[in-house]
Amino acid sequence: MTPQDQKSIGVFDSGLGGLTVLREIHRVLPRENLIYFGDTARVPYGNKSSSTIIRYSREITRFLLKQDIKAIVVACNTASSYALEAIRELTDIPVLGVIDPAVRSLASEAPPQAVAGLIATKGTIASGAYDTSLRRNGGSQQLIGQPCPLLVPLIEEGYASSQAADLILRDYLQPLAERGVEYLLLGCTHYPLIAASIRRLYPHFKLIDSAAETATTLQGLLTKANLLGNAEKPVIDLFVSDMTDSMRSLKDLFFAEKVDRFEVAQVGDDH
Ligand code: DGL
Repeated sequence: MTPQDQKSIGVFDSGLGGLTVLREIHRVLPRENLIYFGDTARVPYGNKSSSTIIRYSREITRFLLKQDIKAIVVACNTASSYALEAIRELTDIPVLGVIDPAVRSLASEAPPQAVAGLIATKGTIASGAYDTSLRRNGGSQQLIGQPCPLLVPLIEEGYASSQAADLILRDYLQPLAERGVEYLLLGCTHYPLIAASIRRLYPHFKLIDSAAETATTLQGLLTKANLLGNAEKPVIDLFVSDMTDSMRSLKDLFFAEKVDRFEVAQVGDDH
């Protein structure tokens, strides 16, 4: 039997956005074996009902648990907003979402009176999960939510640096700028892929990206639980529910030859 600390970390997202989190985890914890599942056949989650998001998240969790993992990172803000509790009902291993790490960073970095914008999917904004987390973590900053449903398709289609993206970003972000936003939470794991355009258009926004914060939180959690791995040659396996060109390109961009397996896997009641 694999010793607990040498097991893999399971990471999942609705699609490719979670690779931004996986890349940070690999950077911060280069000796960990990683298993990623991207639900590319069913993305987006951001406009689906909470019951569907919970069902999908539980199906993926069951798939990851079969791979004998030691921790789960929910690298999707929408799933983190609705499904963390339902996932924790399935397992005793640590389960980490992406919202608390980003919120803690805001609560500690920003002055108490600061105004922060939150851009995310419709589902994440509607859930109120960021506000709940901010109050739980003792933050008193003001949060202004802005759903940005067009950003995920733009990014998926390779339009993150385009005139179309600039127009849409202005439409979403100008009202935040006018309300005095200084900090901008990227509340969707796809958004680091459009961060360069946001920085160019609104250089005064201080961006908070959950990927980096989640990786360091995970490091702390594994250290505390005595679960840090030390693989000489760590294995990175990527599974998707549908093989898409955009997933293939991002995998090559982020991980080049480091990925050991890149395969389609089915999740759900029959699998
Ligand atoms: N990865 C999702 C998130 O972070 C965005 C894409 C989707 O809508 O599924 O919320």
